[in-house]
Amino acid sequence: MKSETSLAALASIVGEAHVLTGDAAAPYLTDWRGRFTGKALAVVRPESTQQVANVVRACAERGNPVVPQGGNTGLCGGATPDDSGSAVVLLTSRLNRVREIDTANDTMTVEAGCILQTVQEQAQAAGRLFPLSLGAEGSCTIGGNLATNAGGTAVLRYGNMRELTLGLEVVGADGRIWHGLRGLRKDNTGYDLRDLYVGSEGTLGIITAATIKLFPQPVARCTAMLALPSVEKAVALLSRARAGFGAALTGYELMAGVCMRMVTHYYPHLRLPFEPGSAQAPWFALLEISDSESEQHARDRFEAVLGEAVDCGEADDAVVAESITQSKALWHLRESITLAEAESGKSVKHDISLAVSRIAKFLAQADAQLQQRFPGIVNITFGHLGDGNLHYNVGTSERFTGDDLVAHQAVIYAMVHDMVSAMDGSISAEHGVGQLKVGELARYKGAQEIEVMTLLKRALDPHCLLNPGKVLPAY
Ligand code: FAD
Ligand code: MLT
Ligand code: ZN
Repeated sequence: MKSETSLAALASIVGEAHVLTGDAAAPYLTDWRGRFTGKALAVVRPESTQQVANVVRACAERGNPVVPQGGNTGLCGGATPDDSGSAVVLLTSRLNRVREIDTANDTMTVEAGCILQTVQEQAQAAGRLFPLSLGAEGSCTIGGNLATNAGGTAVLRYGNMRELTLGLEVVGADGRIWHGLRGLRKDNTGYDLRDLYVGSEGTLGIITAATIKLFPQPVARCTAMLALPSVEKAVALLSRARAGFGAALTGYELMAGVCMRMVTHYYPHLRLPFEPGSAQAPWFALLEISDSESEQHARDRFEAVLGEAVDCGEADDAVVAESITQSKALWHLRESITLAEAESGKSVKHDISLAVSRIAKFLAQADAQLQQRFPGIVNITFGHLGDGNLHYNVGTSERFTGDDLVAHQAVIYAMVHDMVSAMDGSISAEHGVGQLKVGELARYKGAQEIEVMTLLKRALDPHCLLNPGKVLPAY
């Protein structure tokens, strides 16, 4: 094998048809936002864990870095190689089998390249729920969800991808396979490798399969969109919803009015379900509960709590979905924000989390400081308020153009992240670090944490061949 060229070695493992170069490789070399483009020796598509192990070993022998890629929907450039041209992009699309559904254990073992939506559908067909839910679910993969510890819109009730994972199968930097596909809910046998690999963004190992948790299907769901007068009221409403619904509260999303107006501007077939007055509200919330008793029980609880919220002025108006179709339409409005934001031109995206109690103060301070320094910027603020996670994005206007934004991106990052850090928040709540935020991580994570992370990276990947330059600087 050593005497073969790298391309021939890769072809002998995955088959020539699955080693892509030139134009065939191009779609995999730019990230979803179009912010990063790299070069690669080849893009390869292994179809089994053993083939992944052989690819990694072949790359290690020749010093070629390996960049794992699932659906390429990540928002931090984590799946895009650098521009050296020496990396091999390892696509997981053919690792797409559901290996087992164990309804007695409420678990499912799936390969890393399975599309999230397919996993949800397979769980549903087995009478169970796999609750991870996000706008990119039609194209993102379980491997990408694991590698980024994805969040989304049901974290409030079910947790992030880490909480949804019981076991993993991983190929390490030396090509060895760790067989950790255990469906155990209790296992205290030392350090938890599963938790180390989840969220490691392909820098410590290539995840090839996972055993994930399943849940009972809810008997009923209720969804509502509310027009709100302020963020303070949105936070008060969240407390009311937590108290009123308890664990039944599945999602609580916050959207600035500007986001909703952006969505209906770029997608005029979508309509906000409010009268003109409420449609101009400064803020909107999307609430969902899941009930294990009955439709009527869910509906009565839902209307009682939302009625109180309107009566006491926390919400100005509320629209409750009358059917699954209406519920989907409300969610579609929310899920379209990212696409509408992309249509609107350049933006600086933030993915911050804070204690919910600090959100209103943060927004007041950050909006005022940014507006003072960069008059005309537009705040495109939305996110998972129930988790204290906001996408505090900054967009352009006629007064503050895309070129201005690019020129000032570093300053905007520093202003926002300094405020977040001063309030003990996180600069990456759910999207990860990728290559976008390597510098930011070094700035805000404590020296001791960076030191331990670097020690772990060097121990598991001594030659820096697994997704180099992501999360931590390359060495
Ligand atoms: P990719 O983009 O292919 O890769 C992401 C990272 O994981 C890269 O570092 C890559 O190297 C690594 N990786 C991929 N597969 C593996 C593997 N098998 N082993 C090891 N490493 C691997 N994210 C959220 O958390 N919440 C949201 O609500 C959300 N909404 C989104 C909405 C839209 C419209 C879009 C475009 C993105 C959204 N995202 C969201 C971001 C993105 O969808 C998630 O990060 C998702 O988990 C990425 O999955 P992927 O398969 O596309 O991974
Ligand atoms: C979302 O919550 O919609 C996503 O995380 C995507 C984004 O931040 O644009
Ligand atoms: Zn999000």
